[in-house]
Amino acid sequence: MSASANILLNVNGIEVIYNHVILVLKGVSLNVPEGKVVALLGGNGAGKTTTLRAVSNLLAGERGEVTKGSIELRGERIEKLSTAEMVNRGVIQVMEGRHCFAHLTIEDNLMTGAYTRKDGKAAVAATLEKVYNYFPRLKTRRTSQAAYTSGGEQQMCAIGRALMANPKMVLLDEPSMGLAPQIVEEVFEIVKDLNTKERVTFLLAEQNTNMALRYADYGYILENGRIVMDGVAKDLRENEDVKEFYLGTGGSGGEGRKSFKDVKSYKRRKRWLA
Ligand SMILES: Nc1ncnc2c1ncn2[C@@H]1O[C@H](COP(=O)(O)OP(=O)(O)OP(=O)(O)O)[C@@H](O)[C@H]1O
Ligand SMILES: [Mg+2]
Repeated sequence: MSASANILLNVNGIEVIYNHVILVLKGVSLNVPEGKVVALLGGNGAGKTTTLRAVSNLLAGERGEVTKGSIELRGERIEKLSTAEMVNRGVIQVMEGRHCFAHLTIEDNLMTGAYTRKDGKAAVAATLEKVYNYFPRLKTRRTSQAAYTSGGEQQMCAIGRALMANPKMVLLDEPSMGLAPQIVEEVFEIVKDLNTKERVTFLLAEQNTNMALRYADYGYILENGRIVMDGVAKDLRENEDVKEFYLGTGGSGGEGRKSFKDVKSYKRRKRWLA
C-alpha cells in the first residue's frame, strides 16, 4: 500500500499467544488507511478473529495476549488500552456470530450501542434515525424481539448497534456467516454505503473471499497465523492463485480449498512478493 496513504490502523508484526502456550499469530502486519474497506481473508482457524480481537483489545477475555509487535491507531500505541478506551477512540468490533440480545427488541439492542455516548439524547436519536435509514429492515422490525428476527436482520442489528457509538472504524467479523447470498449482498451494499457516505473505515474478516473482494479496496490473506499475500482487491480477484485457492474458479478443479503453501506457483510468487 502506498506510504503516502493516511494510515488509520497499523498492525506491526504482532504475535498472539492464548493460554500462555498456544501461538496463533506469528508476526502479522497490516495497514488500514482512513476511509477504506480492508478485507482480512482466510479459512477456518487462520487467525482472522484473533487479529481483530488484538486490535479491539478483546483478547484478555479469551486468555490471549499480544506478546510481540505493536498496534497503532493514528500513530498512538493502543495495545494496552481497554475495550472501552478503544470505543472512545472510535474503534468498535462487531463480533462473529451476530451477537444481539435475544430477549430485547431490535430498537433496545440498537440503543445498547449508544451507552458510551456523552453527547445527549437528541444526538443519539439522530444516529438511530440514520441507522434506520441505512437499514430500513431494522426500522420495520424495531419492536420485534431480536430472537424472532431473521439471521440477516440480526447481522444488521449487530452492525447497527456498533454504529450507534458513532465509530470511525468498525472491525467486522464474518458478516456473511450463515446468510443466504442475496442477504450477504444486501449487508455488504450497506457496508459500502456507510463507507462512502459516512466515511466509516472497515476492517472486514471474511471466509467469503469472493464477496469481500468485491466490496473491499485492499485485501490480506492470512494462513496459519501469517499473511501470505496482500494486494489491491481488484488485483487479488484476478490473481490466478487466489482464484484457484479462494475463489474456486481456477483451472485445476480441486476439491475444497488448498493451501497456498502446497503449490509451486505460490512459492514462486512468494519470491516475487518478498
Ligand atoms: N480463546 C482461545 N483459546 C485458545 N485458542 C484459541 C482461542 N481462540 C482461537 N483459538 C485458536 O486460534 C486459531 C485461530 O483462531 P481464529 O478464531 O482467530 O481464526 P479465524 O480465522 O477467525 O477462523 P474462523 O474463520 O473459523 O472464524 C485457531 O487454531 C483457534 O483454535
Ligand atoms: Mg473467526
